[in-house]
Amino acid sequence: MPLWPVYTGTNEPHDGITELPPPPPWRAFDGGPVLPAPDASADAAAVSPDRTHRAETYQATEDTVQLVNAALYLRRPLLVTGPPGTGKSSLAYAVARELRLGPVLRWNITSRSTLHDGLYQYDPLSRLYAARQEAAGAHRAERAQGPEGPEGPEGREETEGAADGSGIEHHLRLGPLGTALLPYARPRALLIDEIDKSDLDLPNDLLNVLEEGQYEIPELVRASRLAPGGVAEVLADGTDERVPVARGRVRCRAFPFVVLTSNGEREFPPAFLRRCVTLHLRQPDDRHLADIVRAHLGEPDAYARTLIDRFLSRAGVGDLATDQLLNAIYLARSADLDTESLDRLAEQLMPYLGQTAGSDVF
Ligand SMILES: Nc1ncnc2c1ncn2[C@@H]1O[C@H](COP(=O)(O)OP(=O)(O)OP(=O)(O)O)[C@@H](O)[C@H]1O
Ligand SMILES: [Mg+2]
Repeated sequence: MPLWPVYTGTNEPHDGITELPPPPPWRAFDGGPVLPAPDASADAAAVSPDRTHRAETYQATEDTVQLVNAALYLRRPLLVTGPPGTGKSSLAYAVARELRLGPVLRWNITSRSTLHDGLYQYDPLSRLYAARQEAAGAHRAERAQGPEGPEGPEGREETEGAADGSGIEHHLRLGPLGTALLPYARPRALLIDEIDKSDLDLPNDLLNVLEEGQYEIPELVRASRLAPGGVAEVLADGTDERVPVARGRVRCRAFPFVVLTSNGEREFPPAFLRRCVTLHLRQPDDRHLADIVRAHLGEPDAYARTLIDRFLSRAGVGDLATDQLLNAIYLARSADLDTESLDRLAEQLMPYLGQTAGSDVF
């Protein structure tokens, strides 16, 4: 029997992802040439200590474990909704670390984000500038050495090459989504954070790319018609490494583990929802909160337990985020204050976040 769950939520890194059963036939992708999985040990070096800490301390609920595995098996994006601070963004780091998927590719969405930003950035001005520099250099060399100097014809060829579309890859960088869809042997982890902040069109645009598992870079498609072989070496997101892209088309191999987060303030079109696995995170209960505190700050002492109780009774009235509680407990441990001052400080550190703040029950 194949392995279930692949993601266990124990935060112990392992290679279970290599035993993931084949995708359902309607989600099989065959992009190539296959790229080796990024070095999982690069993870620690490439990400900030803050992200590593989040990944190591994540406390997954049973539902979270089940739905992460459903998304992995079905090769579908995971839409994670829930109030602020319930661990939506941290989940992507925790899964990537446990399954050794390498550094998380992160795309922070704003109202101005477009699909194009996520796929790749092309800077035509820098290309034009480089072509002019090259032409000026070749011209100078020609004047210095006469019309048929040692590098005469080759020098000109390179300059002309820039004009016909070759060399375009030096001015092109893949974005986080564009990189996640490269034909990696092992799924990359992609966090599309706060999709609810996007313009209305983005979810639908995204849906097509994630459905097809592929995209085109028209600038490279055009250039590859002119250049023999048609393989461009382009920079992948977050690295100085170049990866080959043949004829301007990218198609994935192992479908990436995609986490889309939303604070739930936005309704998504049914066509979008149908293509995602949806996980709704709730405010943690007392046991879950104690586990979270333990993971971040060690065993909760008596005062920390009091703060957990206060947090829970306040969270029943208005929106609070888990990290507000963590801040209050951290300060209570580190600051040498009497109980009355600590109480006052903790109250100030846990103000309601939403409009729904009720009476003060601290
Ligand atoms: N289940 C959890 N296990 C461990 N830590 C958690 C958990 N949930 C939240 N936290 C901690 O709470 C903080 C907030 O988490 P995170 O940023 O992932 O929340 P979020 O849901 O993405 O919030 P927002 O909607 O504001 O972006 C982090 O420091 C994280 O480590
Ligand atoms: Mg977040």
